[in-house]
Amino acid sequence: MPFYKWDESLATGVVDIDVHHQLIFVIINNFIEEYLRGRGKDTIRPVIDFLSDYVVKHFSLEEKYMSDYSYPEYSFHKSQHTQFRQDFDRLTSRFENEGVTSGFVDALKQRVGDWLKNHIMEVDKALAGFLKAKCICK
Ligand SMILES: [Fe+2]
Repeated sequence: MPFYKWDESLATGVVDIDVHHQLIFVIINNFIEEYLRGRGKDTIRPVIDFLSDYVVKHFSLEEKYMSDYSYPEYSFHKSQHTQFRQDFDRLTSRFENEGVTSGFVDALKQRVGDWLKNHIMEVDKALAGFLKAKCICK
């Protein structure tokens, strides 16, 4: 039973953004499953690295849409991405220092999994509504 499961309630209706979100949830679950199997740092590090790279790629896609179509909430939305990246960098440092502890896993669930759900429901859906109103990205 996955901890973070993408479902239709999280759909923005912009296909490439939704596909990215689905994959990010798969990666987070992958991480939690590896943790529950008792895997150590060396097994889990590639999952964290992949998540980190993929989130950057995903944010770049959204930011390109915002820039290309002069989205009025661009700076607010981008500031949320920036804050997330800073939190994620702190989490990565914590992972390197303390390894895969239950405290680290709880922090990752909260600051990545829960954050993403909230961000999608409010901020990404608002962006998607704007893009769809411009008859693009359907
Ligand atoms: Fe976003």
